[in-house]
Amino acid sequence: MSAPGWSAVDDYIVDQLIGEDAVLDAALAHNREGGLPPIDVSPAQGKLLQLLAKGIGARRILEIGTLGGYSTIWLARALGEGGKLVTLELDPDYAAVARANIDRAGSGDAVDIRIGPACNTLEEMCAAGEAAFDFVFVDADKQNYAAYLDYAVRLARAGTMLVFDNVVREGGILDPDSDDPKVPGTRRLYEALKNNPRIDATAIQTVGRKKWDGFLLALVR
Ligand code: SAH
Ligand code: DHB
Ligand code: MG
Repeated sequence: MSAPGWSAVDDYIVDQLIGEDAVLDAALAHNREGGLPPIDVSPAQGKLLQLLAKGIGARRILEIGTLGGYSTIWLARALGEGGKLVTLELDPDYAAVARANIDRAGSGDAVDIRIGPACNTLEEMCAAGEAAFDFVFVDADKQNYAAYLDYAVRLARAGTMLVFDNVVREGGILDPDSDDPKVPGTRRLYEALKNNPRIDATAIQTVGRKKWDGFLLALVR
């Protein structure tokens, strides 16, 4: 089936199972107005993240890579009363757009946006003895995915679920000699998880509005 077919099926899935959401649509519109790149997760993917987080009863969620907060809003809605989501973003202008989108979505109190290179922020969080997270969504610079795995494990408990975005890249992930640095970065994540005694993992390929890509899912033992 062709890429346009994948997109039409995503439209059907949204129509049948998800529905239009004015707040999330407004967030995407504000992202466009702010000149943010349209690289948010799709609605079907956002809801998948939400169902996974809700399904494990997550009360503390960590997100690495906020952009305009579209995935953040999906995940924040998985939290019950008193839940907390910490999301890390390099770009202060993106973070400002995200702050406004998340506040308008009514999730402002639950969401803490921390600005700066995520490795620095994560190092500070480890040093400060940050409480463990139940669910971690990694979607920032792919070059650092293996480092983000290490930090996620340091900030996890047994049973914490980790999800990494963009781990297939239209099959680009198969090319060990790719000159796109995102590919070796992502391949280092797979290598770190190969025969890893501390973490059970799989990856699922996805098609749809965001073309052919995939999620890597892992559970800390
Ligand atoms: N999760 C978002 C999309 C994130 S796009 C959504 O689905 O709605 C990836 C984001 O990671 C971008 O906003 C980019 O600025 C941010 N990023 C890139 N490098 C980073 C770094 N070193 N530290 C923190 N964030 C980074
Ligand atoms: C890019 C980043 C993403 O997280 C994504 O989902 C799609 C594209 C990018 O950097 O191009
Ligand atoms: Mg992504």
